[in-house]
Amino acid sequence: MELVIQPDADSAARLVALLIAKALREKPHLVLGLATGRTMERVYAHLVRMHKEQGLDFSLCRTFNLDEYIGIPASHPGSYRFYMNRHLFSQINIDPRNTFLPDGMACDTQSACRHYEELIAEFGGIDLQLLGIGADGHIGFNESLSALRSRTREKALAPSTIAVNRTLFDNPAEMPSRAITMGVGTILDASNIILLVTGSTKAEIIAKAVEGPITSMVSATALQLHPRCRVVVDEHAATRLQAQEYYRWIFATEPEWAEYR
Ligand code: GLP
Repeated sequence: MELVIQPDADSAARLVALLIAKALREKPHLVLGLATGRTMERVYAHLVRMHKEQGLDFSLCRTFNLDEYIGIPASHPGSYRFYMNRHLFSQINIDPRNTFLPDGMACDTQSACRHYEELIAEFGGIDLQLLGIGADGHIGFNESLSALRSRTREKALAPSTIAVNRTLFDNPAEMPSRAITMGVGTILDASNIILLVTGSTKAEIIAKAVEGPITSMVSATALQLHPRCRVVVDEHAATRLQAQEYYRWIFATEPEWAEYR
């Protein structure tokens, strides 16, 4: 795991967008794992800008989102499909047929979950998975006690997650309490992972996630097991990290980061 501290939320998001753009230029058929949430909006804004200004090409890229609510259609403004269309897909040259989210409207949720895993495998697995973190340390919708080897499945959301995420709904009562999410094991199968965390409200949980003991109570701690996981945080989220000096030293001196300094 490598951790990079950036001055503010926008430069953190910009760095993540640059890392994604580099991967896409190196491999136009990139299989990209995507995340939702407020934190990601800036990343998608930067990717859209790079597409418009520099011609960043998504025409061959395939995307798989981490999760989707159960019981609201793609046309619902609270659905993750709606979020992705709005913030990214409608503004870049991606083929909509190459964009995948779990089917939260499926009659048979279990077989929809199995199908999602099969689809990811058919495309050769995820090359680069983008992640945010929930207030309780969830990745995707892997709430506390999610098995560290779990696969795509239906999850009941924690009351704390419902309380935070319902503010994104025009009518909070419409926020579903269940979702389909890639499992922690599904996420760990990605070849590369980038976790983006910004803001002081995430300072405590990101310190637990990267420097605390691995525990299913905090799903994000499982990322410590991944051989190619990069974590990008802003100064506000970095305040509780114990090894800040080391992280800053790595970013300032390692050749791999030279082009981003
Ligand atoms: C939701 C998503 C997560 C995301 C989290 C954080 O719960 N399922 O994938 O990481 O929100 O969102 P935010 O960036 O709004 O804090």
